[in-house]
Amino acid sequence: MIYFDNSATTQAAPSVLETYTKVSQQVWGNPSSLHNFGETAFHLLEQSRHQIATLLGVKSREIFFTSGGTEGDNWVVKGTAIEKRSFGKHLITTAVEHPAIHNSMEQLRDLGFDITYLPVDKEGRISVDDLKAAIRPDTILVSVMAVNNEIGTIQPLTEVAEVLKQYPKIHFHIDAVQGIGKGIQSMIMNDRVDFVTFSGHKFHAPRGIGFIYSRTGRKLAPLMSGGGQESNLRSGTENVPAIAGMAKALRLLLTDEDEKVARERAIKQRVYDHIKTFNKVTIFSQPTDGFAPHILCFTINGVRGETIVHAFEDQGIYISTTSACSSKKHAASSTLTAMHTPEAIATSAIRISLDENNTLAEADEFNRVFDKLYQKFSKINADV
Ligand SMILES: Cc1ncc(COP(=O)(O)O)c(C=O)c1O
Repeated sequence: MIYFDNSATTQAAPSVLETYTKVSQQVWGNPSSLHNFGETAFHLLEQSRHQIATLLGVKSREIFFTSGGTEGDNWVVKGTAIEKRSFGKHLITTAVEHPAIHNSMEQLRDLGFDITYLPVDKEGRISVDDLKAAIRPDTILVSVMAVNNEIGTIQPLTEVAEVLKQYPKIHFHIDAVQGIGKGIQSMIMNDRVDFVTFSGHKFHAPRGIGFIYSRTGRKLAPLMSGGGQESNLRSGTENVPAIAGMAKALRLLLTDEDEKVARERAIKQRVYDHIKTFNKVTIFSQPTDGFAPHILCFTINGVRGETIVHAFEDQGIYISTTSACSSKKHAASSTLTAMHTPEAIATSAIRISLDENNTLAEADEFNRVFDKLYQKFSKINADV
């Protein structure tokens, strides 16, 4: 089996699951309980927070645990809107965000907020001039993803940060769900960013756990009201086993990061160099620094994405149509649509997404199967 669908989710690492199991069995007290058993859980919770903060070069009190990327994104967008509504009702984001951002923005629009979606160029990248032009006196949030989940474009985060230094009151959020561990940490944890979203299951932690970075002094209204956990900002009994597992997963991810990134880049390059030789293949992700090392999106013109996905699956290779969320809806890729890609192509795009455990041998096997399938599709479909 070859698993090339790591942007959808990753397999939890065995040592992370060991931590999860051990904590579930031995440290299962509620961190809010007053007895020793609760204290032990509380210490482990705070130790995990400290470990994550240290790995990111921030303070422990700036890390807040969530259930994952969707919650983190919803919290920053809606929490900003609630917190800052008396200062302004304008929010800026990009036309290529994950639905966790896009649909949160649309909900706010229904409530009377004004949303600007920055357009993207043919590589799926926003322009900083468009951002400058969009900022208004009533702008309260700029939210830009680090790495696009469908085609892997890296957004110009450093330049966005520079622009926003002139507007210190605007909240600056980065959705880093696809960007962590991909060699761009200094762009993400830049000196202007206020909030960053992370999701554990994208880096070998269990499902249903994540965290946000929230800069000291910045305020978000809570969305989860209740018993006052997470400094009164995110109530709910903390999932200590998953949090401890996630802290370990993050440490593992960031160990030898450069080497892992180089390996992923080499695998992507090998597939890219192969498929680019076929004249009915359109490739959207480039093997350059402006794109993440792990995502390669392309089409075989005239063949639907799901047909290709299932044909690879029959050969034991797991890939996706562009995003896991849209794949069952048979919808056009929203990123490709925003790039003004013709609909026929936007509905047939497929994505391979790598992690540090993939190998060049798997790339060679993928290429071999690709040749076979391309020939088969050519026989069935005159367009290929
Ligand atoms: C860029 C991006 N943001 C947010 C999310 C949502 O994360 P989660 O699956 O943890 O809710 C995803 C998931 O694919 C994503 O790729």
